[in-house]
Amino acid sequence: MTVQQRLRTLAASSLNIAGAFAADPDRLARLSVDVAGIHADLSKLAVTPEILDALLALAQESDVAGWRAKLFAGEIVNPSEGRSATHVAERGLGPGAANAAAATAHADMLACANRLRADGTRYLVHIGIGGSGLGPALLVDALGRDGDGPAIEIVANVDGEALSRALSRCDPAHTSFAVVSKTFTTTETLTNATSARAWLAAAGIADSASRFIGITAAPERAQAWGVGEVLAFAPSVGGRYSLWSAVGLPLAVRCGPAAFADLLAGAAAMDRHFLDAPMARNLPVLAGMADVWAARYCRQPVRGVFAYDERLRLLPAYLQQLEMESNGKSVTRDGAATDRPTAAITWGGTGTDAQHAVFQLLHQGSVIGPTEFLAVRTPGHDMTGSHHRQLLANCLAQGAALMCGRTLAEALVLAGGDAALAAAKTFTGNRPSATLLLDRLDARTLGALIAFYEHRVFVAAALMGINPFDQWGVELGKELAIAALSGAAPDFDPSTRDLMARAGL
Ligand code: F6P
Repeated sequence: MTVQQRLRTLAASSLNIAGAFAADPDRLARLSVDVAGIHADLSKLAVTPEILDALLALAQESDVAGWRAKLFAGEIVNPSEGRSATHVAERGLGPGAANAAAATAHADMLACANRLRADGTRYLVHIGIGGSGLGPALLVDALGRDGDGPAIEIVANVDGEALSRALSRCDPAHTSFAVVSKTFTTTETLTNATSARAWLAAAGIADSASRFIGITAAPERAQAWGVGEVLAFAPSVGGRYSLWSAVGLPLAVRCGPAAFADLLAGAAAMDRHFLDAPMARNLPVLAGMADVWAARYCRQPVRGVFAYDERLRLLPAYLQQLEMESNGKSVTRDGAATDRPTAAITWGGTGTDAQHAVFQLLHQGSVIGPTEFLAVRTPGHDMTGSHHRQLLANCLAQGAALMCGRTLAEALVLAGGDAALAAAKTFTGNRPSATLLLDRLDARTLGALIAFYEHRVFVAAALMGINPFDQWGVELGKELAIAALSGAAPDFDPSTRDLMARAGL
């Protein structure tokens, strides 16, 4: 039987997750990994030793180790753009020349951060979208509360409301701007940057170039636009992998250079684990295999991520780009159509509030997909009372409830024999989940966590034979938006033409 046949056969047979603990006394140990301050418990996922064996065979067949070696060696892993992907060099684990270039660029960025922390700047407005905004926003939201540097505003949307709200909190006399765009062609970012320049001019600051820092892989375009300083990063660092580069400036500005160094150190620890741990004990490999198992073989179309920690409230949005822009593809890296689903839809939120809004569907709805819970052992706040114990108890209870459910017989007792009410109170259970428990949320652990997700996405892509580093799927919509703006409407369909007329375009 081929590996594919084995996986299909296994996917067709039913599995009782709770029962799997009794069948395999080693299950918890086999499916738990501790690395870089993260305890990952994957034992409530719908996998068995047999399934893991088949997935490891798939990893062998699809040469996950070979692709990993290419990634770290700086070889081409993004064939549609003819590029390597050198985000690991930002953490010092790429090829020597790329590591050295990244270290030099970091030194420039940290010097800039130190200047902004010392020169009277009180606000840094970071203008960037997608990978040029989501990562820095996550970092600053998670770690910035106790930072002692300038306040950070992150502006992504071209909707003027976003910039206007951010600027309303700033004082033009003490505000600097980071214009962050890998390509320095993204219209949303350039529109916001131009309006920011006009805002400074309106406040009487005519020669504003010195207030603008361009962070980009296209320095000449940033210079031409008119920034006072350029912080460059390598074109081989993808946008959604760029927070490790100069794009991470807001963290260094808000929390200081040491926080940025810790972030990189945490990511490097995860890199080393990914490189060195045996496949069956390798967290990104196990998690990537489980993702492919759920989405591709069990055809589960969604993957939920719920952070039981306010500091991680932006993690689901960050992961949506990382996972969906990377692996939301329908062709393999050779251009062949994929025969099965690829990435699931990533969705999520924060606990406990999500429990009172969307968890009904998780527990009793008809769409099944793995749910990932994140919690941090130690709180970041100093509120007295039972906040944190309640938070953790709620988090851990969800995974247990999803797996164990409540039988009709139990529900009948609760419902006093009312059959209809008992049916409504029955939980099928057997719903897969994973839990990541972090020792603490500091820059080091957050770095390790984000690097874990990056490598997990990479492993899933390798298992599916797809290129996770391009994003051609966003181009057509961009092109049509440009056409719509230019009034070049004749080729649009009747519905879109009508909507454009009604919208005044
Ligand atoms: O449109 C998608 C995308 O290219 C993302 O991949 C990227 O992170 C974002 O746009 C922003 O691009 P840039 O950094 O070049 O402005």
